[in-house]
Amino acid sequence: MKNITTVLEYHDRTKHRPSRYAASLGYMDWATQPDPYRRYLDALLIPLKHSEITPPYHLLFEKDSLPSAPLCIESLSQLLRYSLGLAAIKSHGGSEWALRCNASSGNLQPTECYIITPAMAGLSEYSTLSHYAPREHALELLHTYETPLSQDGFTIALSSIIWREAWKYGERCYRYCQLDAGHAYGAIKMACAMLGWQCKIESIDTKEIAHAFGLDQFERFHPAERESSDLLIRIENISPLPSLPTLSYRANLLSSSHHDWPILPLIDEATQGVYPSPKPLSRPRTIPEPTKNTSEVILKRRSAQMMDGSSITLEQFRTLLDSSQFCAEASDVHFILFVHRVEALEKGLYTFIRNGDDLETLKKAMDQNFIWEDCNNGLYCLQKGDYRGAAQMISCNQEIAKDGAFSFGMLCNFSTSLEKHGAIGYKNLYHQCGMIGQILYLEATSLGLSATGIGCFLDDEFHALLGLRDQHFQSLYHFTIGRAIVDTRISTLQPYTH
Ligand SMILES: Cc1cc2nc3c(=O)[nH]c(=O)nc-3n(C[C@H](O)[C@H](O)[C@H](O)COP(=O)(O)O)c2cc1C
Repeated sequence: MKNITTVLEYHDRTKHRPSRYAASLGYMDWATQPDPYRRYLDALLIPLKHSEITPPYHLLFEKDSLPSAPLCIESLSQLLRYSLGLAAIKSHGGSEWALRCNASSGNLQPTECYIITPAMAGLSEYSTLSHYAPREHALELLHTYETPLSQDGFTIALSSIIWREAWKYGERCYRYCQLDAGHAYGAIKMACAMLGWQCKIESIDTKEIAHAFGLDQFERFHPAERESSDLLIRIENISPLPSLPTLSYRANLLSSSHHDWPILPLIDEATQGVYPSPKPLSRPRTIPEPTKNTSEVILKRRSAQMMDGSSITLEQFRTLLDSSQFCAEASDVHFILFVHRVEALEKGLYTFIRNGDDLETLKKAMDQNFIWEDCNNGLYCLQKGDYRGAAQMISCNQEIAKDGAFSFGMLCNFSTSLEKHGAIGYKNLYHQCGMIGQILYLEATSLGLSATGIGCFLDDEFHALLGLRDQHFQSLYHFTIGRAIVDTRISTLQPYTH
């Protein structure tokens, strides 16, 4: 109960309100900007090879259409390259920065990735624990196990360096770390589909994850830069986690000094526990029309910073909504959509119910004047009209929310999740929203459109617009999709050419 209270207090306290945003420094402290690359000093670095050969994107969604790739260093390399690897180097005014396949709030990249693999030619004759180094596209070898592990698959742990996000976003950053972990999982899920592999999140205590991957060996990390375990991902593998001795490799220092946000360790501690088993969605996504190759979709995915205000077709709109069903493990999330410019669809406020179980509860909870006009396949019109101003206002006044063809909030069954799973349900809901976000970014790119995740929104202004009066449903992530205006002053370079 104490942990639930901590979650409710944290959630309320970190809401952005028109009169005051959640607490943060309020300026960019460039002197303490964290290094976006974790490295383990003295660990052996094993470079991974690049391969550009990937299947057509639409085949990722057609069951059994892609052969299952052998488990070897080349396929592991592809998995990491097209999920968490660098996608582009941007350059402007003498500075350069890297963007990755996985979207990240403020591009601060809090998510780290650790992998347990069986013996593998090119990596080690033993089973290993390693850390993925995206800048080098390489594995840092942290441990070799004496006992051989099953050759069936890999196990991946994702963790968050909360300080990386706290540096810019202060107290609200815990939400962003979890959304980013969800994006990273979504990226891994897509890269697995490309290799014909199944991946799933395991229901396991997050403290067990920390123990098996050495994240609770606190002496190896600066106290302000420790990692919090988020998720355990099984790729074609269910064997028990091997035990780990104390490792000698110390984590690099990311910042010379740190700002303290006492609420962050409290919410982090409160949301540890046994990760919920997903309750999968019953309606799968339909197979999309052929568009592009997977590598092109993944590497070209970029967040739009401006949208051009043009329309999209109804078919594109439907395809985008439908693609979210690929995240079958994200069954607690519905969309509330501000439709601005979709051909053959009247402007207005809509909802896309991704899991029919919540339909009646939502009808009761929301404004009783909503018309609930059934537009088929889970889409309902709530009210007709021009919502561009409301969309912009709710998205912290960001114009992309009104200039996209549509923007939306991800409304989650909040109190039921917390009741069912305890405080870790909070973490899980953000992961669900993040994974949907990553898939929608990719789907938009495959259709020649662009998207942007919106972490900055006025929580209760949005709830009030829907007539929601309590915490039963809460919106945890916002999003916009349309056509980007590309900033031609910024040049794009290929990563990994050096
Ligand atoms: C959880 C999350 C929240 C975000 N919030 C915003 C936002 O409020 N406004 C915005 O312009 N971009 C937002 N972004 C986009 C990021 O800034 C973008 O992903 C990052 O700069 C990396 O660029 P890329 O997506 O092109 O790789 C968000 C992204 C994520 C994943």
